[in-house]
Amino acid sequence: MIEQTQLFDCQSKNLTQKLTFYSSLEKLNRACSNCDRCSLSQKRQQVVIGRGDLQPDIAIVGESPGKQEDKTGQPFVGESGMFLLKMLKAVQLDSSVYFTNIIRCRPPDNRKPSAEEIKACKPYLIDELRLIEPKIIICAGATAVAGLTGKRESITSLRGKWLDLEGTAVMPIFHPAYLLRNPSLEKDSPKWQTWQDLIAVKLRLEQTLKF
Ligand code: URA
Repeated sequence: MIEQTQLFDCQSKNLTQKLTFYSSLEKLNRACSNCDRCSLSQKRQQVVIGRGDLQPDIAIVGESPGKQEDKTGQPFVGESGMFLLKMLKAVQLDSSVYFTNIIRCRPPDNRKPSAEEIKACKPYLIDELRLIEPKIIICAGATAVAGLTGKRESITSLRGKWLDLEGTAVMPIFHPAYLLRNPSLEKDSPKWQTWQDLIAVKLRLEQTLKF
């Protein structure tokens, strides 16, 4: 049997990249629900698995579950999730969305996930994205961008610039929690920049759907 790590560490662009370890989201989610690959499994209330359209135009990849997510087992249901949804609605990007995170269990006190925790959870995320095949991925915050693509730069320099993941376009944006702390709508403010980024996603999606 092929080792799971071999499969997911594959960097070259060939067919192997699209292979999934789990044959369905159902099986993947069942494995996540019983996961104890890292110590976060000992403190979680619930494993937070992806939700939304299973053949989505857009997949949102966030950093990690918060308190509300840990309580409900659903990603992006807390304050920043609601705010993100409001922004997606405003640019009519909310009709076909799937929400997930770099890691599936809440880190204590909402600290950033460690490199080990991200490494332990990443095979689930990659498999999940291969199974749902989003047309575009929106990555919220620098930790999510680094966890998903390996690009380690500040979100200020990453945001608004398209990245590629196995042929799928990835748009890094500010994390919604950061936007809630920075409410200015002035030109060039983080919120203003996020509108530009979401409009860029909308335009690219429209182009993609035409072909
Ligand atoms: N909720 C999530 O599920 N993930 C985030 O990154 C933020 C809020």
